[in-house]
Amino acid sequence: MRILVTGGAGFIGSAFVRMIVSETGWEVTNFDKLTYAGNLENLGSVEHRPSYRFVQGDIADEGAVNALVGGWKPDAIVHFAAESHVDRSILSPEPVIRTNLHGTFTLLEAARRHATPRFLHVSTDEVYGSLEPPLEAVETSPLNPSSPYSASKAGSDLLARSYFVTYKLPVVITRASNNYGPYQFPEKLIPLMIANALEDRPLPVYGDGMQVRDWLYVEDHCRAIRALLERGREGEIYNIGGNRSLPNLEVIGQLLALTGKPQSLIQYVPDRPGHDRRYALSSEKLIRETGWRPQVDFENGLARTIDWYRGHAAWVERVRSGAYRDYYERNYGARGAVPR
Ligand code: NAD
Ligand code: TYD
Repeated sequence: MRILVTGGAGFIGSAFVRMIVSETGWEVTNFDKLTYAGNLENLGSVEHRPSYRFVQGDIADEGAVNALVGGWKPDAIVHFAAESHVDRSILSPEPVIRTNLHGTFTLLEAARRHATPRFLHVSTDEVYGSLEPPLEAVETSPLNPSSPYSASKAGSDLLARSYFVTYKLPVVITRASNNYGPYQFPEKLIPLMIANALEDRPLPVYGDGMQVRDWLYVEDHCRAIRALLERGREGEIYNIGGNRSLPNLEVIGQLLALTGKPQSLIQYVPDRPGHDRRYALSSEKLIRETGWRPQVDFENGLARTIDWYRGHAAWVERVRSGAYRDYYERNYGARGAVPR
């Protein structure tokens, strides 16, 4: 089996590439633009394996995508590449729309032209928008995205689905909840709070901190994607949740306890515009059809993640240099939070 992974230098894509290269004999090509979020250091453990290769490129570049899909003829495309951060999508929506919508369109077109036998489109529970308790999104729930990021993902999901309905392209769509684990760029909640706490810096909490997210350990997500790559039904959508809903303040409380840092590091800052209050989803369909279940519980996963960040201070320092500082200033300086 040959698989083309897009965005394999990012957080989840690199975990998936590491898992596939170390556990299977499949050939893997990682196609990634290496934006601020892409980091080949994440693939150090597999980069010399003969079954793995890296190709730098933009999924919105029709020529490059066609040359690769038409020339290499993968058996499957697993599409992770995206601009993945809500706050950045609020500050600068243009690259989000270009990559998430136009980039997905370009890949779908190449897959259609070259009759790729499998197209797994990686999406998010954020497309369902905010849900009042006790509601949980199922795969047929209405789409109600709130941010440029989630709207672009909802649009790309619909486009992917249309390629199945119209052209019979064998598409499978996955919608996962919030991921956490090693190698996550320290702009998302958990790695940002760990990195700041370990350096005794303030932890910027948006609004009242009572927003609820469902937390999924990244390796559990990757195992679900592998199961669906092999056994998911064509044209179907599958939710992937960690079955662990927590308010942000509780996540931060646990994280401070595990790092041995005081609650006084919490700094309440003005809320994110359009902030979704609560995400919740049911993974019943995935469990029923594949037998998958999350294996890493939140306490254990959080402890492992903190250990990883403690042991990788130099990695954090490198990814936070340069452009990250400008982003931090733009996003948090305007909220009156102490710059990093
Ligand atoms: P990430 O930001 O860590 O990585 C994104 C990767 O895509 C980077 O390596 C980047 O260089 C690459 N990329 C960006 N634009 C590109 C382009 N135009 N062409 C080629 N490569 C490009 O993202 P992540 O957190 O690993 O998320 C991966 C996927 O999973 C995304 O599709 C995201 O929407 C989805 N998802 C993420 C989460 C989460 O909690 N992080 C949850 C559910 C779904
Ligand atoms: P985030 O990791 O950006 O994921 P998403 O918005 O895609 O769910 O944020 C998770 C939650 O944490 C969300 O409710 C916003 C909140 N948050 C903060 O309170 N402060 C921060 O600095 C960040 C990055 C997020």
